[in-house]
Amino acid sequence: MANKYEMFSVRVSAVEQATPLIRRFTLVREDGQPMPAFSGGSHVIVQDPAGSFSNAYSLMSDPRDLSHYQIGVRLEEQSRGGSAFMHQQVEVGTRLTISTPNNLFALDPGAGRHVLIAGGIGITPFLAQLHDLEGGATPYELHYAFRSPEHGAFQAELEQGPHAEHVRFYIDSLARKLDLEALFAGLAEDAHVYVCGPKPLIDAVIAGAKAAGIGDERVHWEQFAAAPAEGAAFTVVLARSGRELRVEEGMTILQAIENVKAAKVECLCREGVCGTCETAILEGEAEHFDQYLSDEEKASQQSLMLCVSRSRTPRLVIDL
Ligand code: FES
Repeated sequence: MANKYEMFSVRVSAVEQATPLIRRFTLVREDGQPMPAFSGGSHVIVQDPAGSFSNAYSLMSDPRDLSHYQIGVRLEEQSRGGSAFMHQQVEVGTRLTISTPNNLFALDPGAGRHVLIAGGIGITPFLAQLHDLEGGATPYELHYAFRSPEHGAFQAELEQGPHAEHVRFYIDSLARKLDLEALFAGLAEDAHVYVCGPKPLIDAVIAGAKAAGIGDERVHWEQFAAAPAEGAAFTVVLARSGRELRVEEGMTILQAIENVKAAKVECLCREGVCGTCETAILEGEAEHFDQYLSDEEKASQQSLMLCVSRSRTPRLVIDL
């Protein structure tokens, strides 16, 4: 399918160590033009100069200021290489290639209240959304959880900025825990809940919202992550060549294809965000783990993302 992103060159103009594990990078265009417009919740795909790594990062800077973008990058222990590259090799002056922004985590304009819940590095999309919400008519609140005081990235800015009265902090090591049950009890019927952070937090928010009777359409989440390793092995059939490949447990369909060079696949993000590896399903049912397709699209079983999806059926025939 057609690539929805355009790539362009940027230069790193500032690097800041925000916490022991999180760095903030400021990016400016090489040609001096303003950055493409975006809304809070948008992400860009960032590639290293050699094109070896490609990762999605939320834009955290003010959408009203297009002189630059800012992203926050957490050094991941399980890094596929992207976050280690950003932390160890990127410095002021480094050139990177980034995509135009896309928003899969937008604020719902129909919400009567926005309840934002961040865990750790999951704070970044909300920082841009706070700028969008500033001065608006819709009430909002941000609940920001992190494990210890030194890991509270951008906490001082939040405490001192215009949103201070809308923000609550929860710090594991100080036993200041976020009580989701209490938070969801009595939430107005038109309030929307947004969560970004580690998978356990996202799972807890989704389960807590369900238990509180909050409809799925009022719960929004985002997590950029590699494919889950669990799931039984299955066979994928490439319909155009007739090739059959075994996709073992812990492997993605994309890896199975690339391991034997069975077909050429365009794949920009490799984490279910960009949509470039979308492929039609001809037979069988996929188990979707991407952020790109809507719930309706996933249920329709028309297509899947090769980089993260697995199969619910022992055999999956795809249009490749
Ligand atoms: S490569 Fe981006 S969704 Fe698969």
